[in-house]
Amino acid sequence: MRRQRLLKNSDAEIKMGLEVVILAAGMGKRMHSSLPKVLHKLAGKPLLQHVIETAAQLEPRKIHVVLGHGAAKVEEMLHTLPPELQNLTDTVIQHEQLGTGHAVLQALPLIAADAKVLVLYGDTPLTPAQTLKDLTCKLTDQALIVLTSLAPNPFGYGRIVRRQDQLEKIVEEKDASAEEKQIREVNTGIIAAPCEILKTYLPKLGNNNAQGEYYLTDLAGMLVQEHKQVSLEVCDNFDFFQGVNSKVQLSQVERLYQQMQALRLMEAGVMFADPKRFDLRGSLSCGTDCFIDINCVFEGEVKLGNEVSIGPGCVLRDCVIGDKTVLSPYTVIEGSELKQATTVGPFARIRPGSVLEDRVHVGNFVEVKKSTLKADTKAGHLSYLGDATIGVNVNIGAGTITCNYDGANKFRTEIGDEVFVGSDTQLVAPVTIPKGVTIGAGTTVTHRLRIPENALVVTRAKDTIIPNFPRPTKKKS
Ligand code: UD1
Ligand code: CA
Repeated sequence: MRRQRLLKNSDAEIKMGLEVVILAAGMGKRMHSSLPKVLHKLAGKPLLQHVIETAAQLEPRKIHVVLGHGAAKVEEMLHTLPPELQNLTDTVIQHEQLGTGHAVLQALPLIAADAKVLVLYGDTPLTPAQTLKDLTCKLTDQALIVLTSLAPNPFGYGRIVRRQDQLEKIVEEKDASAEEKQIREVNTGIIAAPCEILKTYLPKLGNNNAQGEYYLTDLAGMLVQEHKQVSLEVCDNFDFFQGVNSKVQLSQVERLYQQMQALRLMEAGVMFADPKRFDLRGSLSCGTDCFIDINCVFEGEVKLGNEVSIGPGCVLRDCVIGDKTVLSPYTVIEGSELKQATTVGPFARIRPGSVLEDRVHVGNFVEVKKSTLKADTKAGHLSYLGDATIGVNVNIGAGTITCNYDGANKFRTEIGDEVFVGSDTQLVAPVTIPKGVTIGAGTTVTHRLRIPENALVVTRAKDTIIPNFPRPTKKKS
């Protein structure tokens, strides 16, 4: 009991004092793009947003983002963040990109003197919040903690040079000797330090190196020489620290991210045909025994109930899918709710504002928009159902179209329970079909027809037969 309270107190202390600096001023030359590097998207969301969201999970006092190259564009993105993140975040401009050490220096005037500072890079989006929490908790009386990892291929990263196990210095790729380039322990870029240390030592950094930059990494060697306590924290999963400097690396980080998400979902019981061919660009929650076939894309907030089966190539955005629903291949669903045991597709499109109630069937090449299909209703083939409310157990024949738009305004179609709509019917909205009505194939229904319940309505053009019809022939020129 007492121990728990002690832990809680120290936790609170760490939160109180923590401020995060995120470096996002670099141009990202190696991306070969006019878009600032940190705005390139990982799983549909800017790299920088990932880093800010992770930082926010540490409940810091403040997050300071250092902007420079393309600052206006990055600020625009920051204004689209949820209000709680915007309130937590402020920005500072690094007018010239003189290096990572110089970048952190620009943020120091914004940071309280008693703060613990965590520095993150805007191009390193996969680091879990827990790893960062553990790191900040470990910062007690050291001058600096550097998070390191063993890279399978350390090329491009700062190398950790140790002497008798202790840190001696960090050497950047471009400054490293052939021997130093062999070192596989790399700087993840993530450090934690008391603000006062940064205030004292960052202004002393020099730029006498291969890139003529003020390297944040030189702080480590400088503090060692000043006999300050610098500790190294080795994290065994290098994947968490892969930086994005090029489009090749962006694609690698994207795959790692997707792999991590698929793994998390499989651990929660989701079955994948192939977890490598899966993309989640938002959040996905799944009940028990869900199956996801290859090449599906999930965007925004998607919720699957129990025993949902999703065929290959489906795209689902902001939707709720009820228990036992089966989506056949290449179905697209957006902003809609499917209740229990519905069957949709292949090649169906459910657009925003639609509700398919229990056991509804929507088949191939059917488009549904802002419409409710009540229980047991079926639209098997080639239809457009827009702005419609369709009752229970209705059959919509192939080729049925709700003519909901007159070129200026949209109108609704109301169809009662147990209606049978024959193939190739046009329902010219606004129109109401009372319950039990049968519509013959090829009928055009307008609101002018006063149809009683359970009636048959059918339009038939007069049949014309001309025997031995002389087909037109091509004129000779
Ligand atoms: C950096 C580290 C390297 C580490 C690697 C991890 C330095 C000198 N090197 O190298 O040791 O292994 O990250 O990924 O720190 N930035 C600014 N202002 C600047 C320069 C950079 O804000 O003047 C920002 C960039 O936008 C980027 C981050 O700092 O988000 C890192 O800069 P980058 O040029 O990508 O450094 P690396 O070469 O990857
Ligand atoms: Ca980088």
